[in-house]
Amino acid sequence: MHPTVNIAVRAARAAGDVILRYHNQVDLLTIENKSINDFVSEVDKTAEKAIINEIKKAFPKHSILAEESGEILGDNNFQWIIDPLDGTTNYLHGFPQYAVSIALLENQIPTHAVIYDPFKEELFTASKGEGAYLNDERIRVTMSNGLEDTLIGTGFPFKHPQHLDCYLETFKAIHPHVSGIRRAGAAALDLAYLAAGRLDGFWEIGLNKWDMAAGALLVKEAGGFIGDFSGRDQYMETGNVVAGNADVFKVLLKKIHPHLSEDLQR
Ligand code: IPD
Ligand code: CA
Ligand code: CA
Repeated sequence: MHPTVNIAVRAARAAGDVILRYHNQVDLLTIENKSINDFVSEVDKTAEKAIINEIKKAFPKHSILAEESGEILGDNNFQWIIDPLDGTTNYLHGFPQYAVSIALLENQIPTHAVIYDPFKEELFTASKGEGAYLNDERIRVTMSNGLEDTLIGTGFPFKHPQHLDCYLETFKAIHPHVSGIRRAGAAALDLAYLAAGRLDGFWEIGLNKWDMAAGALLVKEAGGFIGDFSGRDQYMETGNVVAGNADVFKVLLKKIHPHLSEDLQR
């Protein structure tokens, strides 16, 4: 494992300890509503502090973009992107599908990624050019051709209700052609599962950088494709994302595109 990934793993495990410490007592947590359907608890904040602390110890000059703390300025050539708890709504309901997501971008390009599910003890890691791994075993995207027999992941735009109608049109376009569609509630894990061949494809509207940065590298290093709604690589900017193995990626784009409102074309 690359030494930088080792640091990120240490940080993710520190956050995982915080997450597991409280997972049976979520009713005792103080929960704030950041915006519509967007919750944060002291677990998110404490886990994020634990991650930043480990990263700062090893790389004091690097800059950081973390969901709860925002931007921490430093050397812009190296930026850590952190989601301390992806799947907060699941976590707050005791639904065990959530993870820590950490990525390093070098000159804007993701080079190292860690997604850690502390409940299932699943650690997904990737470094650019070195493949993707689940608990040290190499993982790859599926080989499926077309949508027949595929299992596709998605997310509902519950934080962006203005896109719901448009989203439902894309859903209707995909639904008849696949074996199943899953909305598991943690985008970072959706992308990690795609990398691990548990899903064949994925699409979602309105994600944030911290939901996707680590998962995007995992998908690519597992042989998959990820892009915005026009198939280009602006997904970190637009927040709109499609991913899959080569063929599923192409077919999903074709199914989704005709149903997009103008502001969602990218
Ligand atoms: C959310 C999850 C969810 C996705 C939302 C994200 P959070 O992240 O990834 O699956 O549908 O758009 O915001 O708020 O739990 O870190
Ligand atoms: Ca998230
Ligand atoms: Ca989060």
